[in-house]
Amino acid sequence: MASVAPTFYTNQVQVTDEVANFSPEVVEEMYLHLTKYPPDRKRSALIPLLFVIQRERGYVDNEGVNFLARFLDLEVTDIWETVTFYSMFNLRPVGKHHIQICKTLSCRIIGEPKITEHICNRLGIHVGETTDDEKFTVSLVECLGSCGTAPMMQIGFDYHEDLTTEKVDKLLDSLS
Ligand code: FES
Repeated sequence: MASVAPTFYTNQVQVTDEVANFSPEVVEEMYLHLTKYPPDRKRSALIPLLFVIQRERGYVDNEGVNFLARFLDLEVTDIWETVTFYSMFNLRPVGKHHIQICKTLSCRIIGEPKITEHICNRLGIHVGETTDDEKFTVSLVECLGSCGTAPMMQIGFDYHEDLTTEKVDKLLDSLS
């Protein structure tokens, strides 16, 4: 079975006072998200705003979190506790194609280990690593809610289900 890089799940967050800057268009987009929630419930906009930060910065970084803390009048710890809970937020740069393989029960017993090993062997990396050309990152994540079509994985925002090694090969071949 492919080995797991242990630091992936215990990623240390480097906290400094630096604050990210965003273009007026991006800030306007952020304000637009705020309008979807009551003025005294700004925190409700946290998840969509984190997606904006991740899109703009490549991952959710310290400077982006500091910006959001000011923007939403929250403590940075309020934001980090959310960021570190959800696997959809990256704490460090990932490759162009982020392969997130479900490792929870249904997927695990139906074939996740074989799929993970196949992908890692093919890409020449371990779980938690990115290929040298920065094209692929492989992660193991908790249940993605598609247990009936296990084993499955997510690449970007797309689900790929009922995986076999043959299916995985075709999929990886199709990704430029
Ligand atoms: S166990 Fe894999 S999607 Fe739920």
